[in-house]
Amino acid sequence: MYALANQSTSVVYALTLNYHPLSKSIVTYSRDCEEKSGELMRLHGLKMRFEGLIRENRRPKALNDPAPEAASLHWSVRRINTLVKSLPAASTYLEIGVQHGSTLESIKIPFKWGVEPHPLFRLDSLPAGMRIFHGNSDDFFQTLNGNVAFDVVFLDGLHDWRQTYRDLVNTLNHSHSKTVILIDDVVPNDQYSALPIEREALEARLAAGLPGLEWHGDVYKVILAIRDLHPNLDFRVIENGADNPQAIIWQKDVGHPHAETKESVLQEYSHIAYHDVFVGGETPPYFNVRSEDSAIEEVLTSLRTHESR
Ligand SMILES: C[S@@+](CC[C@H](N)C(=O)[O-])C[C@H]1O[C@@H](n2cnc3c(N)ncnc32)[C@H](O)[C@@H]1O
Repeated sequence: MYALANQSTSVVYALTLNYHPLSKSIVTYSRDCEEKSGELMRLHGLKMRFEGLIRENRRPKALNDPAPEAASLHWSVRRINTLVKSLPAASTYLEIGVQHGSTLESIKIPFKWGVEPHPLFRLDSLPAGMRIFHGNSDDFFQTLNGNVAFDVVFLDGLHDWRQTYRDLVNTLNHSHSKTVILIDDVVPNDQYSALPIEREALEARLAAGLPGLEWHGDVYKVILAIRDLHPNLDFRVIENGADNPQAIIWQKDVGHPHAETKESVLQEYSHIAYHDVFVGGETPPYFNVRSEDSAIEEVLTSLRTHESR
């Protein structure tokens, strides 16, 4: 996504003027470039350029501890903090894909680890208890000490199901029987948002004459893989109005070792398309869709039964 922004650094987006105060001094509108760039470049470029302006022209912000109150209104923050508060022993949190750090800084837990190849915040003044791995998740897990286990994990990195599945499997190797994992973007809102490459998703939507910049990728296939290949895991999918759909994953029982999945088995999922799963645009029953409150309650009830065994 940053490659596109680089290609088009000379292209300036008039819409950007409405979004960022810095743009007034930086942006010079070029009609020539705009004519060449086309509608897609403008829509996609708007998003990329906005990120670029912040990265290039302003010293990234330092993360807070605690985060501003407004952040708690965000669904990820609300769901993760509810889980953390309800799991009294929870003290360690891992977030894959941190970006600006707005979720990470808002989680109320003593120890937080973030993994991000392109952090949009300052790395030189992290709040107490926070550690950032500046790189991708595969490298992070490769260097992680085998003894480390997380209590709560948020997988929100690349919107590509193979990467997210790998993140899940690696997380399971650093989990205990009560670790709770939240995965973002598990229900795309249509066939365009389900395409794994952002630019292709936006191009296809535009070609279909539809508005919007939604992009969830094919992370939904992780749900199929959990259902088919991980009988020791349970999950609920939260679909709550306009809030982003997310899945909560946890271990059904104590003491089931995690089994590796063969590449040939994973390859079979590459043939599955959006319409095979979301027939008529409906989320299938096996996604175990619940309201946010019910999903969290069911997770906690199940984890409590671990204690009584
Ligand atoms: C949707 S943003 C994360 C938002 C963040 N979790 C929050 O709630 O504030 C996704 C981030 O994942 C990062 N990312 C992409 N691929 C990654 C990978 N392989 N490992 C870790 N992070 C990755 C991107 O750079 C991007 O910043």
